[in-house]
Amino acid sequence: MIRVNALERQNAPLLPEFFRVLNESVSTSSFILRDEVKKLEERVRYLLGEDSHVIGVNSGTDALMLSIFAAGIRAGDEVLVPSRTYIASVSAIVHARAKPVFIDVGEDLNLDVDCVVPLITSETKAIMPVHLSGHPCEMQKIMQIARDFNLVVIEDAAPAIGSKFRGQSVGSFGDFAAISLHPLKVLGVLGDGGLLVVNNHELANYLSVYRDHGHPQPKAFENFNSFGVNSRLDNIQAGFANIKIPLLDNWINQRRKNALRYLEVLVKTRVGRQFDKQLESLRPGSDFYDSYSSFVISVENRGDFIDSMASDPFPVEVLTSFPRPLHNHPNLLKFYNISLPQKLPRTEYFSERTVQIPVHADLTDREVEIICEKLSKYFRRKN
Ligand SMILES: Cc1ncc(COP(=O)(O)O)c(C=O)c1O
Repeated sequence: MIRVNALERQNAPLLPEFFRVLNESVSTSSFILRDEVKKLEERVRYLLGEDSHVIGVNSGTDALMLSIFAAGIRAGDEVLVPSRTYIASVSAIVHARAKPVFIDVGEDLNLDVDCVVPLITSETKAIMPVHLSGHPCEMQKIMQIARDFNLVVIEDAAPAIGSKFRGQSVGSFGDFAAISLHPLKVLGVLGDGGLLVVNNHELANYLSVYRDHGHPQPKAFENFNSFGVNSRLDNIQAGFANIKIPLLDNWINQRRKNALRYLEVLVKTRVGRQFDKQLESLRPGSDFYDSYSSFVISVENRGDFIDSMASDPFPVEVLTSFPRPLHNHPNLLKFYNISLPQKLPRTEYFSERTVQIPVHADLTDREVEIICEKLSKYFRRKN
């Protein structure tokens, strides 16, 4: 089976390097928030641009929760967020007892910028664009709306390190951003980890202390100024990320090459027109530089597509992609502080149809070819 994720292919060749980091951490007893964390923060800052301050935390979820907290979002405030996202984007909002206001998605499966302004009320404090699957949101328009309505922008860039909009890295546009280092992300470590990005120097100083229970530096004079949380990044995990960072560009290039091969096949099929824009976005000079954290397409009959791709002799794994949007979980509605969520037609349409197929950088040439043949056969068969 050609699988959507094959982490062992990426990690196994790096084992000697991982052991080096482990060895150094053990021999110097450097386990939490030490030199490797500092190095990672600096490197990601360099990747995002000098105006961004990067703080190692223990997950992308924590980076979102700390952003909401530091943005001063409190009970009753409204935060605009797509419903087509991972649960962590929305849970960060409801944990602050704030109210998620769901935005519909556009054809690119990210929030539809044209739907934003009508949803803004006097209670709206922030907007959370989610660069889902590594696809960058239209940040220029979002930042303009945020300026016009005085909104805080919290980018959920958890799956999108390395993606860019108009040449600028996602995660560097907003007031805050969250990046995940979860093993399945393009820059994944061997456990949990995350990066909180802040564009304000004083807030960054505050948060880098806050993530460590508010411990003032130097620790010897334990004169606390605030309470904090334990959201420290492990030195060993940061060391693993430091091994992977120099490889990130190549991995993303490989993902984009695989995506290009699929799209060149797909545009020639009966359903080809829906892929024109995506193919266009892979051309040099496009506004959207997508890291293809996942390769997602929309199919009319998901079960049929999954069965067809799984057929012998070369079965290909297909996973559903966000099959149930966050506004569509009846058991969660009580947390939303609303009686009935508004209709989100495109979110609902795509939730019934979207699938992801393997696109990772360790697919062999033959595997990509097999996937292309199967895509071509499936969509031709539908003629
Ligand atoms: C869109 C999105 N937001 C937030 C997260 C949470 O990141 P983490 O798993 O590191 O807490 C993820 C991770 O899957 C994600 O995809």
